[in-house]
Amino acid sequence: MNPSIAFLGAGAMAEALVKGLLRSGVCLPDRIFVFDPSETRRHLMRAQGIQVANSNQEAAQWGDIVVLCVKPPVVGSVLREIRNDVRDKTVLSVAAGIPIARLSAALPEGTKIVRAMPNAPALAAAGATALSEGRHVHPDDMIGVKALFEAVGRVWVVPESLLDAVTGLSGSGPAFVFLAIEAMVEGGVKCGLPRELSSALTLQTFMGAAAMLAQGEGGHPAVLKDRVTSPGGTTTWGLYQLETAGVRAAFISAVEAAAKRAQEIGKDWACT
Ligand SMILES: NC(=O)c1ccc[n+]([C@@H]2O[C@H](COP(=O)([O-])OP(=O)(O)OC[C@H]3O[C@@H](n4cnc5c(N)ncnc54)[C@H](OP(=O)(O)O)[C@@H]3O)[C@@H](O)[C@H]2O)c1
Repeated sequence: MNPSIAFLGAGAMAEALVKGLLRSGVCLPDRIFVFDPSETRRHLMRAQGIQVANSNQEAAQWGDIVVLCVKPPVVGSVLREIRNDVRDKTVLSVAAGIPIARLSAALPEGTKIVRAMPNAPALAAAGATALSEGRHVHPDDMIGVKALFEAVGRVWVVPESLLDAVTGLSGSGPAFVFLAIEAMVEGGVKCGLPRELSSALTLQTFMGAAAMLAQGEGGHPAVLKDRVTSPGGTTTWGLYQLETAGVRAAFISAVEAAAKRAQEIGKDWACT
């Protein structure tokens, strides 16, 4: 099985997925189709040997998997363009918040729909993607969809009821981590480190801490935190400042607020 894939919208997320597909060899360039209104984006895709269509409709006709890779407010108009061309195909939406039921209502009865929430590290082949399938999707259809996202990172299949929470955590999460990294760099600079050195040390610290967790070194992050916190030492004084500033609660609230926003986008979205 070697499904062809059509990307409607060739922005940041489509670019990450196309790169992953080509790098991993999951799909050859002549099996990938795109449409984007921007000539610059079309040129970028053409330069990689990708087939560029003249419209969303044409791209949708060519693909077995049709990926809605546009911002949520644009999804409705794209669905109207392709609604007669996606029977027997798998329509895959990466748009935040828009539920399968609402996508389904804008497409012919029985259309196979999958919703995905990938994240920006897909660009570095380190993405986290959660997938939920609509009721007409066959397990065989999911093989191609999973392969698409496994080409850019790790994949979990989850009930759709969890997708807004996933959006708040791993979808928006990279920005939260970038902010934390930026703040740590400033801390190093405030203590007298040259900015370049502070940036490099911060990045390595984040990657090192994540690697310890990923390799199962001690299990829960709290266990690892306790292990590096000596009584009366430097780290406990720093941790006390973070707790006093409410950093833990701030991260919890950030994920919750982003998840709520995803829910609102879904409620407000109308395919008119
Ligand atoms: N980037 C992420 O980290 C991320 C993470 C999770 C989910 N997503 C989801 O992925 C989707 C795409 O996000 P993105 O970051 O790739 O956005 P993006 O970089 O803005 O890409 C969207 C592309 O679609 C094009 N476009 C606009 N109208 C179109 C139309 N009618 N038909 C076809 N293409 C059209 C845009 O062109 P113009 O710029 O000329 O308008 C742009 O090139 C969004 O729904 C987002 O929620 C993104």
